[in-house]
Amino acid sequence: MRLLVTGGAGFIGSNFVHQTVRERPDVDVTVLDALTYAGDRASLAPVAEEVTLVEGDVADAETVDRLVADADVVVHFAAESHNDNSLSNPWPFVRTNVVGTYTLLEAVRRHEKRYHHISTDEVYGDLELDDPAKFTPETPYNPSSPYSSTKAASDLLVRAWVRSFGVQATISNCSNNYGPYQHVEKFIPRQITNVVDGIRPKLYGTGENVRDWIHVEDHNTAVWAIVERGRIGETYLIGADGEVDNKTVVELILELMGQSPDAYDHVNDRPGHDMRYAIDATKLRDELGWTPRYGSFRDGLAATIEWYRANEAWWRPQKDATEAKYAQLGR
Ligand SMILES: NC(=O)c1ccc[n+]([C@@H]2O[C@H](COP(=O)([O-])OP(=O)(O)OC[C@H]3O[C@@H](n4cnc5c(N)ncnc54)[C@H](O)[C@@H]3O)[C@@H](O)[C@H]2O)c1
Repeated sequence: MRLLVTGGAGFIGSNFVHQTVRERPDVDVTVLDALTYAGDRASLAPVAEEVTLVEGDVADAETVDRLVADADVVVHFAAESHNDNSLSNPWPFVRTNVVGTYTLLEAVRRHEKRYHHISTDEVYGDLELDDPAKFTPETPYNPSSPYSSTKAASDLLVRAWVRSFGVQATISNCSNNYGPYQHVEKFIPRQITNVVDGIRPKLYGTGENVRDWIHVEDHNTAVWAIVERGRIGETYLIGADGEVDNKTVVELILELMGQSPDAYDHVNDRPGHDMRYAIDATKLRDELGWTPRYGSFRDGLAATIEWYRANEAWWRPQKDATEAKYAQLGR
């Protein structure tokens, strides 16, 4: 299989490429990545011999057309992905997430290729803390931020291209990922690397906000299950029953790193901060027989802390600039 992975130098995409090279030697991987601040060649260094990396933009129709023509399957991870950035400058989100997806869809339509679209549970908005409900594929879209609204728009384009043009596509909406190679701007790596640097972790608002955490490795085994066995035109929700509030995450990081669990500070909350996300992954589990490899959030977090301790050379170059950006936001 010739596989085109967009955004393969980012967090989830690079883990997907590593997993694919490790477990599927019959797959020939090409990565298309613009290497924005969030993409890093170094994330693909361990598999550089096995993978072709093309530096380019998913909104560039000519490049996309050429690469899609040469592929059998396209898995589209590339996106602007950070909510805080989408509040300060939404345009790159509209361009990459919406126009980029449109550009890929037109190419897979022209060349009649199989397409899998990676999306987020944030398209569904949020749930109340005391609401027993979880997101299902039938939950209406209700995005809160420029990030999640552009992801929602891209999902709707995919649905329309399936219905109107018969494009062979599937969609997955996954909960919050953690694991190796995640940019230090994101919640978990930021707190881990702060503790390494002797800085007290920062908790937005009261920290009651609940996220449904999944290890990136589990997200990616689910993506493969959908690519291989998913029904065309269907949406699958990916989650591993990992609901934890942000305060507990910070306390757990401190405990696992040998610090007092209350050694953190509260900072200003993010405007429009979603309260709770929770995924019902019954369809994925029942229809495709998927189960996560990581047994618990605690085990996955401990492994992630070890990875950040062992790979300081990977994250150190981004750390100061990231903290300077947060300092400007007062967060
Ligand atoms: N991180 C999560 O918790 C999470 C959860 C569910 C879904 N998702 C989705 O998974 C995908 C990957 O997320 P991530 O966390 O790995 O993001 P990331 O920001 O770490 O990586 C995004 C990658 O896309 C590349 N990119 C950005 N703009 C591009 C463009 N115009 N052309 C080509 N490449 C471009 C970047 O260089 C980077 O390598 C996104 O679609 C995101 O919406 C993420």
